[in-house]
Amino acid sequence: MLKLPTKPNPTSLKSSTVDTSDENTTKSQKSVIVKLENVRKTYANGAVGLRDVNIEVYKGDFKFITGHSGSGKSTLLKLLYGAEQATDGDVIVNGFNLNGLKGNNLAMLRRKIGIVFQDYKLVPRRTVSENIAFVLMAQGYTYKEIQRRVQPALKMVGLMHKADCFPEELSGGEQQRTSIARAIVNTPPLVLADEPTGNLDPDNAWQVIKILKKLNSFGVTVLLTTHDEQLVRAANHPVLHLQNGYIV
Ligand SMILES: Nc1ncnc2c1ncn2[C@@H]1O[C@H](COP(=O)(O)OP(=O)(O)O)[C@@H](O)[C@H]1O
Ligand SMILES: [Mg+2]
Repeated sequence: MLKLPTKPNPTSLKSSTVDTSDENTTKSQKSVIVKLENVRKTYANGAVGLRDVNIEVYKGDFKFITGHSGSGKSTLLKLLYGAEQATDGDVIVNGFNLNGLKGNNLAMLRRKIGIVFQDYKLVPRRTVSENIAFVLMAQGYTYKEIQRRVQPALKMVGLMHKADCFPEELSGGEQQRTSIARAIVNTPPLVLADEPTGNLDPDNAWQVIKILKKLNSFGVTVLLTTHDEQLVRAANHPVLHLQNGYIV
């Protein structure tokens, strides 16, 4: 089993949580990181996920995606990380057109996207550190690099003291913060969070938002779905509202 040190790593949090190759671009000009053009998604059973969606998201944006259950929020994010393919139109993420993107190219794109789910999706028999380190191991990072990255990610989400705990030993909020650390440990420029606060009480939900806000202040683009209007108001970021598959 992988043993990771619990000693803080001196590497600055900022340099380890931002894809610095994108940082200058963010500052000097607003470039598009996500673009949907005339996107329609119809599922095999005829259900419509999205009808005719046009969106541009700029590097460094933090946007909420709101709408009732069934309005297409998850569909939109799934198109962005390639879990579903658009029926029509173009989906462009970080310079990749997802139309027909497969195999290595899709894997390469996914390395540039951190994904957070409502139900955390942690591996039960692995510790917090191991859950976070897995991403890096799968991507062929060296042991040394893994050690260098896991600690700042844990620190970012305030879980240094839980590094050796198993998911079942954590509260829901702590599990979600672990999943955020896992999402950002390879410093993606884009984080997609699908109802990340859906299973949390208001205090824990706000902690999650604060972490994502902090990441965003370092230049990470964040797209977050929720139907919690109070949270949206409190967080004070622009909103894309979906209704029946349309942006309204
Ligand atoms: N895998 C799927 N197969 C068939 N229909 C689906 C699938 N996923 C979502 N849908 C349908 O697409 C519409 C949008 O769903 P979804 O994007 O999950 O909405 P939201 O996340 O806003 O609740 C709904 O009508 C839903 O039933
Ligand atoms: Mg959903």
